Amino acid sequence: MTIESIIPYMYIAASVLFIFGLKMLSNSATARRGNGLSAIGMLLAIVATLLYGGMSFKWILVGALMGSLVGVAAARLIQMTSMPEMVGLFNGFGGLASLLVGWAEYHKIQTELGIGVIDKGPLFTMVAIGATILIGGVTFSGSMIAYAKLAGKMDGKPILFKGQQLVNGLVLLLALLLAAMICGCPLGHYVVFIGIIAASLILGVLITIPIGGADMPVVIALLNSYSGLAACAAGFVIMNNVLIVAGSLVGASGIILTSIMCKAMNRSLANVMFAGVGATVSGGKTFTGEAKTVSAEDTYLMLEAASSVVFVPGYGMAVAQAQHAVRELGDLLEANGCEVNYCVHPVAGRMPGHMNVLLAEADVPYEQLVEPQDVNPTMANVDVAVVIGANDVVNPAAREEGTALYGMPIIDVDYARVCIVLKRSLKAGFAGVDNPLFFAPNTRMLLGDAKHSIQSIVSEFKES
Ligand code: TAP
Repeated sequence: MTIESIIPYMYIAASVLFIFGLKMLSNSATARRGNGLSAIGMLLAIVATLLYGGMSFKWILVGALMGSLVGVAAARLIQMTSMPEMVGLFNGFGGLASLLVGWAEYHKIQTELGIGVIDKGPLFTMVAIGATILIGGVTFSGSMIAYAKLAGKMDGKPILFKGQQLVNGLVLLLALLLAAMICGCPLGHYVVFIGIIAASLILGVLITIPIGGADMPVVIALLNSYSGLAACAAGFVIMNNVLIVAGSLVGASGIILTSIMCKAMNRSLANVMFAGVGATVSGGKTFTGEAKTVSAEDTYLMLEAASSVVFVPGYGMAVAQAQHAVRELGDLLEANGCEVNYCVHPVAGRMPGHMNVLLAEADVPYEQLVEPQDVNPTMANVDVAVVIGANDVVNPAAREEGTALYGMPIIDVDYARVCIVLKRSLKAGFAGVDNPLFFAPNTRMLLGDAKHSIQSIVSEFKES
């Protein structure tokens, strides 16, 4: 029995660990262990790969060192609020890595064909290389646009131009034709090959720029799925089973996430990708009125008298890092005999599960998390809905035709007996749509940093 003969078994074990790890991520009680299990699977896969003969350990070491340096620096320097952009970058680099694997293999085939080691381009590998380059390139450039939009380095509004779908279709067709050319005749067509890379990079930009505003969650989930598919295609290029399995898992879970995000927006994927919603109608309606402000002291009095409270966190809670203070307030309310729930909208924050991660970090009990569709029908019985830095996900303008949010199901906090909104100003949210909630008769605005506001209410509780 040679060392190389045990590699397939190690790959199978790694794949099984990935699958069980992924399954365990579906429940917050097992998620941490699931993550650990998948990490062990990845370690096993890496060790197994290193056991292959003919490895250039020198270059592997250089790559690992460089990657570790960048990874450690990023983990230490990046603020928690910048995690969504960071995830966007990771997706993009995943796509780029697959593209480079495809490129390296193409280069190798070119060389071997050129010096007669092989006499014809292996069609299967060439098709896999074409798919890797195409999907990897789209993932990379698309993710860079998503990164720029999330980091505020680019206007979040959709960019539309006349004949956009036609141009997208033509670039895709060109990329496919070039890919077909190199599949049929791989030798001496390096320019064509570079053409596929260029076309796929352009396509990634073109399909991401028309998506903006509230639709960004869908494109982020989709790019995540593409990065998996690119890795899967790269697995076929180098015939590495564990890469094929891991890539398929990421691709499939990304597609499921995309469908969840589409459902959260109440839109079809085609509508998100091609309709350019938000380009013209964003802010098309202005909602004005007189917003009634409230002090932390008065908020305390309202909460102290409440028998049911629903907290609705949004991106502002992440910015303020208010999750621990929110949990403390929740505990005080519970001790006061109040029923406390936390309602998280699927697209709240800037990355899938953003609010759930923060609430879990603050040890908010899982049983207190309620789904919008469960709490909305009974919202009229809720004494106080406390909106913590959320805006778009509670914006009643989503019920009005002619706004960029039209059709998106929201958390109906305006139907609660009293709604208290914690934010710093009356500015619109991510989608740029004015929020009539701020002027509703039963809404009170507690203006200021969310963490500071919550801490002030907690102090009132403690001093009483
Ligand atoms: P947003 O609509 O982005 O609103 C967040 C609000 O938080 C802002 O209006 C801001 O108002 C307030 N805020 C910021 N810092 C604060 C602080 N320190 N203290 C208190 N408030 C603060 O948030 P949302 O309701 O969570 O909706 C998410 C939006 O992002 C949706 O449109 C969604 O489609 C989009 N999006 C989501 C994702 C994912 S995957 N979840 C990805 C990309 C985009 P002030 O400036 O007045 O304080």
